[in-house]
Amino acid sequence: MPSEYRLILKYADQPGYTPDLDCYLRHGGYETLKKALAIQPKDLPEGKKMSPQEQIREDVKLSGLRGRGGAGFSCGLKWSFVDRRSGKPIYLICNADESEPGTFKDRQILHKDPHQMIEGMIISCFANDVKLAYIYIRGEMPEGAKLLNKALKEAREKNFLGKNILGSGYDLEIYVHRGAGAYICGEETGLIESLEGKRAYPRIKPPYFPAVLGLYQCPTIVNNVETLCAVKHIVALGAGEFAKLGTPNNTGTRIVSVSGHVKKPGYYEIEVGKATIGQLINDPAFGGGLRPGRKLKAVIPGGSSAKIFKAGEKFKLKKKVDGKDVEQEVDMLDLPYDFDSLMAAGSMSGSGAIIVMDDSTDIVAALANISEFYAHESCGQCTPCREGSLWMSKALHRLTHGEGRKQDADYLVKIADNIPGGRTICAFGEACSWPVQSFVAKFKDDFVARGEADEKRRASQTTGAGPTGEMKIAASPQH
Ligand SMILES: Cc1cc2nc3c(=O)[nH]c(=O)nc-3n(C[C@H](O)[C@H](O)[C@H](O)COP(=O)(O)O)c2cc1C
Ligand code: SF4
Repeated sequence: MPSEYRLILKYADQPGYTPDLDCYLRHGGYETLKKALAIQPKDLPEGKKMSPQEQIREDVKLSGLRGRGGAGFSCGLKWSFVDRRSGKPIYLICNADESEPGTFKDRQILHKDPHQMIEGMIISCFANDVKLAYIYIRGEMPEGAKLLNKALKEAREKNFLGKNILGSGYDLEIYVHRGAGAYICGEETGLIESLEGKRAYPRIKPPYFPAVLGLYQCPTIVNNVETLCAVKHIVALGAGEFAKLGTPNNTGTRIVSVSGHVKKPGYYEIEVGKATIGQLINDPAFGGGLRPGRKLKAVIPGGSSAKIFKAGEKFKLKKKVDGKDVEQEVDMLDLPYDFDSLMAAGSMSGSGAIIVMDDSTDIVAALANISEFYAHESCGQCTPCREGSLWMSKALHRLTHGEGRKQDADYLVKIADNIPGGRTICAFGEACSWPVQSFVAKFKDDFVARGEADEKRRASQTTGAGPTGEMKIAASPQH
């Protein structure tokens, strides 16, 4: 039977556990920081030495930790790209924007255990020779910002932050920066622009890879809240023990937000890949199943930008059996919830947010809702994204307001196909296209039927004939 494995959320929901420093210290808080600061240089062959910082960076690489913000990129590899030779300061930014619809896991950490994230952040800063770091928090989370500022003050008072931290000679300051509530501020280069006081226009990569040209044109690391917490546990447990959690190439734990038509929507921490999508939806330890009498219609597995799965969909996945690659057919519900399996099935685990839709869902209206969000949130720099997201949203508005056309399904896909694929500055282009491409591909009949019904009704209003050809006395208003 699958169950939660609470590593990061170990204490967060325990009765009496509070977000203040005293409580954190009573639960072993900042012991891992002390451990990190006490690491001694390691002797290497030929009289070479590995610094404590290099050892932590190496451990993060060996642990297999993949970023929890969306792309699932190796954290250790990201850190290895940082330009350490430029002589410029290196910055670290904690991405606490958490704006992907369906995602509500970072805020649990920020609200219930802010010191854990701060400890992970201090260790990550130490490992990367960072002296100044920022927490960029979503504007709509004022309580989180308040709690973080209080926690930082408490940490400063105990010298976990500031000058000469715990007598180690290491100096670090961390500041909280509140966003103004735009989805694009979560994209790392948009976030950096916003932190510099400008409009959050994502930057072109190359040349603006944050690891080389980030905040104030200096090398910068941007990591998600949960990723930084995981770093603390890598140092506490050791890379090897951390890597034993989860599954190969998908190590550690992950907090999954489960929402929509389940009995128990909520956030559940699992070992990565040790629970399937079906278990996360149906098991009493997680979502608890659908509402009585309902059947599953679809699942969005990784936040609103992830491609949708249709109930009953099957995938051919490669599995290692006795060291050999064997292809197996897997039902959507039996997909292990990990980065690689979902990618192999044509979608992604993204921000770790499962959105469940039962058979009461109007799939056209659901896509219209998602597309309206993206049309509103496009920053407008790139024509395909700015215009395309709006055109898709307008077409879907038509389809949900009695003004649809039979060919709207093909029209939507044509627009969606022309946005991503290197035509835009940032991955928002993909994020707004993938829902449209996948919803229409998997539920085309629903879209075509809606357009046809609208066309028929309009024709009957013009000719005076009813939808089945019979004469109507008076056409009813459509809006
Ligand atoms: C449009 C868009 C929105 C994003 N929003 C977030 C967000 O709210 N939080 C987040 O951590 N990452 C977000 N990301 C991903 C970040 O750009 C970045 O990859 C991430 O913060 C890196 O952290 P990680 O390596 O620890 O996952 C977003 C990306 C895009 C393209
Ligand atoms: S892809 Fe969209 S959100 Fe990203 S920079 Fe271009 S217009 Fe802005």
